Amino acid sequence: MELIVQQGDLTQAACDVLVVNLFEGVTHPGGATGAVDRALGGWITDLIAQEQFKGKLNATLDVPTFGKLPAKRVVVVGLGKAEAFGEEQIRQAAATAVKRAKALQAETMVTLLHGAGIAGLPPAACAQAVAEGTVLGAYEFDKYKSAPKDEPKRVLGTAMIVEHSAEKIAVIEEGVTRGRIVADAANMVRDLANEPPDVVTPDYLARTARQLAEDGGLQCDVWDEGRIVEERMNCLAMVGRGSAHPPRFIHLDYMPAGTPARRICLVGKGISYDSGGLSLKPAEHMRHMKTDMSGAAAVLGVMQAIAQLKPHVAVTGLIPTCENMVGGAAYKVDDILRARNGKTIEVDNTDAEGRLILADALSYAAEQQYDAVIDIATLTGGCVIALARVWTGVMGTDQELIDAIIAAGAQTGEKMWMLPFDDEVRSMLDSDIADIKNSGGREGSSIQGGMFLKEFAGEQPWAHLDIAGTSYLDKARAYEPKGATGVPMRTLVAYLLQQAAQ
Ligand code: BES
Ligand code: MN
Ligand code: ZN
Repeated sequence: MELIVQQGDLTQAACDVLVVNLFEGVTHPGGATGAVDRALGGWITDLIAQEQFKGKLNATLDVPTFGKLPAKRVVVVGLGKAEAFGEEQIRQAAATAVKRAKALQAETMVTLLHGAGIAGLPPAACAQAVAEGTVLGAYEFDKYKSAPKDEPKRVLGTAMIVEHSAEKIAVIEEGVTRGRIVADAANMVRDLANEPPDVVTPDYLARTARQLAEDGGLQCDVWDEGRIVEERMNCLAMVGRGSAHPPRFIHLDYMPAGTPARRICLVGKGISYDSGGLSLKPAEHMRHMKTDMSGAAAVLGVMQAIAQLKPHVAVTGLIPTCENMVGGAAYKVDDILRARNGKTIEVDNTDAEGRLILADALSYAAEQQYDAVIDIATLTGGCVIALARVWTGVMGTDQELIDAIIAAGAQTGEKMWMLPFDDEVRSMLDSDIADIKNSGGREGSSIQGGMFLKEFAGEQPWAHLDIAGTSYLDKARAYEPKGATGVPMRTLVAYLLQQAAQ
């Protein structure tokens, strides 16, 4: 889908679907919606008076134009209450509109810039939000669905933002470019997690990283199994040993021009499939474990976006990736593994594998001098129980870093909630024969997971994002489809841009 900005008059736009908007409770639309309504002889006002449309957020009203406008159809999208309106509502309204246009088989769509009218938000921010909502909302993972034979497939080829005032066009274009970069990267993250596990293997992630590096001018280095063992990443090697697809350790580096303001490291859990290993998952829990590499995918997405946005901050992406399987060589419950930082780990449960591969990656990150290390992982089922598929769990050793991530999440609409660390919970991981064990049972398992990782994160500011719930939805939202969401890629990009601006 092409996304373009044009200066002009909405009532003159020739297209299949023309999108305007309405705040909740407004009975006589003004601005661009008012102009379209007048051209239609007041039909929108009539339908509002008949209470067919109240402007509730993400509600839509379809009005055929019967030749009164060059557009074939007008779609009015509800913006909700004016008091509660902001960038998140713009993203949602834009996504609702594009989904409606697709459902109506539109090939061309023209929209006004939500928020820039009476809401009076900065046009660049509105433009970014409209672009994000449109591109995120249009996403569908349908490549494995055969097309119906007799129906001609119509695709929405063009979405156009039309703005009347010529002096706003340049800033709107900048915002749209930024939104497009971020949303395209989020859709790439979604694709990686939605693809079946026999496609997205550790080596596939490595090849994706290499391609990203080539396209975006990043540094990329991939370690194979031999190198992983040589580098004393025994946990990664051991978790991957039951699989026919060997593990990989991926490094990506983005360096801005000049001396960077800060150096930030992102670490993504890349379990390409989590069967549970010998502590095998029951069938219903194994479902969707192809998405256990969502943290890794998010890191790849951030690197793709950052390579294009070029903020003044150095970013390293580290991805330990392997498949957690059963087999003659599989690692066992009762095994003792020595992580890269020298600590020994008793395996209590082979299904607590994410923290093991992250132990090696965090130990490695701790050897470098970063201003912040952030790991992203589908770590615990307990996080889905505690925070639903609504909040990402945030833990860590540095309150300032945690606060900055939570604030970035509030900006992007990706909700984050902090979980506490506690010595008594840590003691649940005490082992009789090793330095630590990888699981102390189900109680407080998300906090246990976070406190396990803390043993390997070293002294630098570190935060852990548990995205087990938020990376995957079984019910679509406005701009998040059923399936992989891309969370928390956009939040990390917002955080990095904010760090670069300091
Ligand atoms: N990948 C899972 C966590 C998960 C569960 C992600 C549901 C997404 C949805 C992780 O490797 C796991 O199996 N965790 C176990 C840990 C337990 C054995 C301590 C869990 O949470 O049950
Ligand atoms: Mn597991
Ligand atoms: Zn897992």
